[in-house]
Amino acid sequence: MNKDLLFELDNYWKNFRQEDTDFIYDSDESSIVYTYGSTPFETFNNVINQVKKPKRFVVLGSSIGWQCFFWNSLFPDIPVIGYEIHDFRFDFSCYLADKYNIENIYLVNDTLTNVDIMDGDLIWENNLCIDEDMIDDFNWKVLTRNKEIQIVSYLPILSEHKDSNNNLILMDVNNNLNQYNQKVFEYPVSWTDKQTFYIL
Ligand SMILES: C[S@@+](CC[C@H](N)C(=O)[O-])C[C@H]1O[C@@H](n2cnc3c(N)ncnc32)[C@H](O)[C@@H]1O
Repeated sequence: MNKDLLFELDNYWKNFRQEDTDFIYDSDESSIVYTYGSTPFETFNNVINQVKKPKRFVVLGSSIGWQCFFWNSLFPDIPVIGYEIHDFRFDFSCYLADKYNIENIYLVNDTLTNVDIMDGDLIWENNLCIDEDMIDDFNWKVLTRNKEIQIVSYLPILSEHKDSNNNLILMDVNNNLNQYNQKVFEYPVSWTDKQTFYIL
């Protein structure tokens, strides 16, 4: 990981707090949606070690690009796509990608419901501040329509099944029953020493 890039990511909140907050108050969305936190590289690496190599890495709520840049430093040949609705954070992620000539990274200023998921994607959901119903609908859709999908989530995947001992059986659009085993880990992040990560 480029040390200067990491330094700029780490300093974002200190340097840009006012502008970032101005954006919140100017928008119609509630401020909770835009709450800021970061996931350290070591935690990211530990989580990624639990999954298979995907065809693409997709980050929902990519903020200033943290996980997109982490991924690119580990697997520059596997494309990474980030979706972020906060204009100011999106702009900063593009500024960093340009400045450090990061290739194979596609940053999109749009809501996650417009993302085009493909078979073989690994989806990282920064969903602690994203509407739970929206994420549930999204997960149902991809798990029943796409093949070989992997999901990393800060919340239980499919909230209705959170008491099901992490075994999920879903019927896909072709009436096939598919069984999923949700793995659960705890790693430190900026807001707590023990953040739960759910991996499917
Ligand atoms: C709290 S941040 C992610 C930080 C992350 N937990 C980390 O450790 O790096 C979540 C991001 O999701 C974005 N977001 C919220 N709703 C969204 C949506 N519907 N589509 C895309 N991005 C969204 C917010 O603007 C915010 O930047």
